[in-house]
Amino acid sequence: MSASVSPPRVGVWLIGARGSVATTVVAGCAAVTAGLHPPTGLITETPEFADSGLPALSSLVFGGHDTVDCPLPKRAETLAAGGVLPHGLPTAIGAELAAADREIRPGGPLPGDTRDVEELITAFADDLRDFVRRQGLARAVVMNVASTEPAPIGAELPASSLYAAAALRAGCPYVNFTPSTGLHHPALAQAAQSSGLPYAGRDGKTGQTLLRSVLGPMFAQRALAVRAWSGTNLLGGGDGAALADPATAAAKNAGKERVLADTLGTTPEGEVHIDDVPALGDWKTAWDHIAFDGFLGARMILQTIWQGCDSALAAPLVLDLARLVSRAHERGLSGPLSELGFYFKDPVGEGPSALGEQYAALVGFAQRLRGGGTVERRADEHSGEGR
Ligand SMILES: NC(=O)c1ccc[n+]([C@@H]2O[C@H](COP(=O)([O-])OP(=O)(O)OC[C@H]3O[C@@H](n4cnc5c(N)ncnc54)[C@H](O)[C@@H]3O)[C@@H](O)[C@H]2O)c1
Repeated sequence: MSASVSPPRVGVWLIGARGSVATTVVAGCAAVTAGLHPPTGLITETPEFADSGLPALSSLVFGGHDTVDCPLPKRAETLAAGGVLPHGLPTAIGAELAAADREIRPGGPLPGDTRDVEELITAFADDLRDFVRRQGLARAVVMNVASTEPAPIGAELPASSLYAAAALRAGCPYVNFTPSTGLHHPALAQAAQSSGLPYAGRDGKTGQTLLRSVLGPMFAQRALAVRAWSGTNLLGGGDGAALADPATAAAKNAGKERVLADTLGTTPEGEVHIDDVPALGDWKTAWDHIAFDGFLGARMILQTIWQGCDSALAAPLVLDLARLVSRAHERGLSGPLSELGFYFKDPVGEGPSALGEQYAALVGFAQRLRGGGTVERRADEHSGEGR
């Protein structure tokens, strides 16, 4: 590429664009691009990804849907007051926050919404195409970071699936960072398969499950018998409030338990609980209590305490995923990107559950993304329109 040609710009369309994770994504990308902070936690900035042809952080353009209208700069100030973002950062990157804010469109369904399913999907897909066209983007990745939904009842498409359907219709790759249904709905299976688009999910692996995907294999490889594995999470913020609903928490906890069954080969006794503690805001405490047997039945216990800032853990992963899935789309990959299991509690496709093996698969994927020879196309030029 000649020095005079500016690199193509890539859209990141955030469903839940005014939430804690989304705001931290926009603010974090601007802060790192401006050189105000190092790219701590961004795996795609490590040497293994240097030749993968990923879009630069400076080429990402943000927009999205949300059902609330709190301006992004104000949301960022609230996060700074809570210690999630550094003090002064919202002012320093005020222009970038305002630019993303201008690209946020009303989501749905809104209270009293009279639009039917088809009308909602059409409206969301139109917003996406409009974003790509006006901003002159090479493509846009749709990223679900909206509040976790309860598991759907019956055949009705939940909101997350309406957005996933809209992404397919607008020809955009799709990532589900939440445990919500999204593209997983049976009614969307055929459209997902025939779309020719890559997709990834579900539910970002940022804390307790991350630890479990390291410790589970350790017990198995050391031939130690895990008798019980119990966990409790305390968290506040919007996610804490959403997960206070047992039906919503069930979706989240299923992913946490699956990693144990997969890595240990059995399902140990014990449960996972999530408690909403609003005073903690974005700060989460996760305890795990693991009872295991050693040689000659010696009884032992491992306890872990994880104290993390949820949005700071999630945001770099969202940026990584946007870059990786954008590049996968550019390279013509389609279907479930199982090599991205490293990032998820409940990964799509077939793949290992142990973090070490997942990392090896990710590095292999980074190699697969190398090479050029692809033609830049605008997402709306080869969209799945009419599907
Ligand atoms: N932070 C982490 O470590 C982590 C890890 C894994 C998954 N997640 C998931 O990421 C999601 C976001 O978390 P958060 O802390 O930013 O939550 P949040 O409550 O701060 O933000 C969620 C946003 O989604 C919006 N929203 C709700 N319904 C919507 C709809 N129908 N259309 C468009 N927008 C809608 C809300 O208005 C809100 O702005 C949650 O589902 C959470 O489970 C977070």
